[in-house]
Amino acid sequence: MPIGLIGGTGLSKLPDVELEAEVVSTRFGQVSVQRGSWAGQDIVFLARHGADEHLAPHQIPYQANISAMQELGCTHIIATNAVGAIRQDIEPGHLVLPNQFLDFTKSRPHSLFDDPKMQVVYVDVSEPYDPNLRQLIAEQAWELGLVIHQDVVYVCTEGPRFETPAEIRMFATLGGEVVGMTGVPEVVLACEVGIRYASLCIATNYAAGLSPQPVTAQEVHELMDQRRPDLLRLLEAVLLQLGA
Ligand code: HPA
Repeated sequence: MPIGLIGGTGLSKLPDVELEAEVVSTRFGQVSVQRGSWAGQDIVFLARHGADEHLAPHQIPYQANISAMQELGCTHIIATNAVGAIRQDIEPGHLVLPNQFLDFTKSRPHSLFDDPKMQVVYVDVSEPYDPNLRQLIAEQAWELGLVIHQDVVYVCTEGPRFETPAEIRMFATLGGEVVGMTGVPEVVLACEVGIRYASLCIATNYAAGLSPQPVTAQEVHELMDQRRPDLLRLLEAVLLQLGA
């Protein structure tokens, strides 16, 4: 069974991996994916923001994307997400594995079971991110000497604007530790269809108000450019282990 990889900001291509484009038809629309083999593992790669990163966080077809992964038989998904750090000890460049989320999105579909003719599904999300997959990613990050923070609370905002410093203070008070715009509902939809899902986040900046400079998309992209080689090494190592 293939492993799904969802590449976030700064990871819309997998260089040096031979992949074939495929279009998957789902109830929610068509999805362009790439299929192939990486580190001895069948993979389905999906660029969350599109190959040229033209889709803003609130425009991403989360339902179609997860449906496509399901139709292709993916048992696991490893997704990457750029985040701003709310916790001071999570420095730009560090990797982060969330184990919980706080959902502050506003206008996104939140279920794959939204057809009135279907049964309503109330999915349990007490452990939204798969513990075994998180452990495997953490172990491989240590092997590679990469800094990775585990058991982190991810706040998802609607975007595409960055947050106000007051919002970041509120999130910190509520227990939020990193903030991003794309983690929810992706993880929830994966839970609904029983796909084991982990989000591998890269802190690209301190969240708004926590550094003297305003947050910019440029710094997010620059940091991703710097961290991409390590991120790819880590994904490759995890795939090798999953195959073993
Ligand atoms: N806020 C929201 N999303 C982000 C950030 C941020 O500071 N950095 C990268 N993605």
